[in-house]
Amino acid sequence: MRTAVYPGSFDPITKGHTSILASGMKAFDRIVVAVLHNPRKTAMFTVDERIEMIRESTAEMGFGDRIVVDQFDGLLVEYCKQQGAEVILRGLRAVADFEYELQMANMNRHLNPDVETVFIMADDAYFYVSSNLVKEAAKLGGDVSELVPGPVSDRLQAKIEAQR
Ligand code: PNS
Repeated sequence: MRTAVYPGSFDPITKGHTSILASGMKAFDRIVVAVLHNPRKTAMFTVDERIEMIRESTAEMGFGDRIVVDQFDGLLVEYCKQQGAEVILRGLRAVADFEYELQMANMNRHLNPDVETVFIMADDAYFYVSSNLVKEAAKLGGDVSELVPGPVSDRLQAKIEAQR
């Protein structure tokens, strides 16, 4: 059984993320979507809200229990060990992602050489989509409904209304 951990902030999950996940399911038997619980980083959604949105969005994908949603804190490589995963799955979009991802992959390899980082290229339809840009556009009244899974679209609007 090949398990990969797909870590991230997922604040919130976008269609860019779900497309990486769908591609990842071709390569792995089980993917653990792991939301970083980072009290130092200000997020729009709580970890529980993010997990709920990921669960709702991935349920629509039809992979059943091959996709697991969880949260972690501390070192990612330690979490991978707990999950029995030898692979960290990350998505790559534009060149701008490369340096950050290269640094993380090398740091993780230094911390645990048994855990490999595998990158999947983002679908070109979503290569410009990031959680931060989606939030920014939505806050300014832009229509981002095609860039996020259905369950996220409604919650994003509700959150923005509540914060006004
Ligand atoms: O979606 P993001 O914010 O780009 O994801 C970043 C994430 C969660 C993958 C990264 O911050 C992380 O792995 N944090 C855990 C702490 C850790 O293991 N740090 C050392 C390796 S860089």
